[in-house]
Amino acid sequence: MSKRSLSFICQNCGAAASRWQGKCEACGEWNTLTEEGADRPAGPGRKAGKGRLFKLEGLAGDALDAPRLACGVTELDRVTGGGFVRGSVLLMAGDPGIGKSTLLIQATAAMARTGHRAVYISGEEAVAQVRLRAERLGLRDAPVDLAAETSVEDIIATLSEGKVPRLIVIDSIQTMWTEQVESAPGTVSQVRGAAQSLIRFAKRSGAAIILVGHVTKDGQIAGPRVVEHMVDAVLSFEGEGSHQFRILRAVKNRFGPTDEIGVFEMTGAGLREVTNPSELFLSERDLGSPGTAVFAGMEGSRPLLVEIQALVAPTSLGTPRRSVVGWDSSRLSMVLAVLEAHCGVKLGGYDVYLNVAGGMRIQEPAADLAAAAALVSSLANSPLPADAVYFGEVSLSGAIRPVAHAASRLKEAAKLGFARAVVPDAGRGESGGLNADYVGSLASLVADIAALGKPRPAAKTRGQDG
Ligand code: TYD
Ligand code: MG
Repeated sequence: MSKRSLSFICQNCGAAASRWQGKCEACGEWNTLTEEGADRPAGPGRKAGKGRLFKLEGLAGDALDAPRLACGVTELDRVTGGGFVRGSVLLMAGDPGIGKSTLLIQATAAMARTGHRAVYISGEEAVAQVRLRAERLGLRDAPVDLAAETSVEDIIATLSEGKVPRLIVIDSIQTMWTEQVESAPGTVSQVRGAAQSLIRFAKRSGAAIILVGHVTKDGQIAGPRVVEHMVDAVLSFEGEGSHQFRILRAVKNRFGPTDEIGVFEMTGAGLREVTNPSELFLSERDLGSPGTAVFAGMEGSRPLLVEIQALVAPTSLGTPRRSVVGWDSSRLSMVLAVLEAHCGVKLGGYDVYLNVAGGMRIQEPAADLAAAAALVSSLANSPLPADAVYFGEVSLSGAIRPVAHAASRLKEAAKLGFARAVVPDAGRGESGGLNADYVGSLASLVADIAALGKPRPAAKTRGQDG
């Protein structure tokens, strides 16, 4: 028997060390190293130094076509790129309680109802609990194969029998354990070992597997980060605690795009698909108050209108606050710097807060113009027209630059009843039936907004000495 070497594995990042240390040298976290048995070599009874001969092939052979199978939950299928690819493994990551189990039992049931074998393995809940949830969601009659199991070897042995499942949900990967690895369930080595076995099973059988992974800041439970590079796609399920909206985003996808999002609403009867997210994000607009602008954005191939809210208030601190939710904070700093340098807007004496309504997160630079409009509107205490949308990128010189997909953005705005669009002067095109206000520079936008309203007296004095 070969001597087994012990190593210390960081529970945060998965780095290995030969001896115990207080701090992980790879990620810098403290007290995350625990002793774990090293993985046994794959394939028992293999002599050292002797490998099996295999056939090398060319690129031009028969490609096993990658047939996709849509599960019928349209928003989920959109994010995967049109359905689950045979033999692929997907990681669905998200905070506990966000709705991963709910979404996946709905997807499994939808798949089973189309006549394919769909399996749901829960390592966290008992069969009765899953049934209770399914009953509440109205899915009792769906022919799902259900089990509460945690041993990867048992799961693979059971699923190798009978008709090959088209979809297998493993909820969650942190609760699974494999005999291949000698350490406690939930450790990095176990999570990695269990994921490896399941990935091998997926490739061999052609079943698509979804692994659920909880993201926690707690170092005790191995994060699903170590699995990320092993799987074909990583989907992140996000949402703000106080909102009912849930957004599914592809972080990595070997078989599809990574910029599509799926939007759901958590209701008493499970997750409802939101087919027109713009309506939802604009449903609670506070019309006529200063500091809000509607941004006509794009998420993948789909236009999405969201409200950007800004508050610019005199500060009582030496260093004013800059706080942003749902947008990039360095982008905000850049827009503020351009306002100061090219538009004469002095913000040094003000706290600045920026928020994207509805718990949405925007990544496009096209939101610069809408953010700037909201900021200036708040500072000047001058409400922007309620029927206008904004998009355009602000350059460091203060010019407004054109952005892609202008036509789709304008079309979506017209569909939702907006009458005007404030858009970049460069790259004029179809206005999509809207009244277009072309702006060439941020300074001219600031002048237009300032002309609309009366600045607050307090804001004016603070602004000039700041
Ligand atoms: P769950 O799917 O268990 O989350 P996860 O698997 O990501 O931990 O969802 C749990 C939350 O969803 C819980 O707080 C209750 C809520 N919920 C509803 O609001 N409606 C429903 O129909 C269901 C099933 C859950
Ligand atoms: Mg769950």
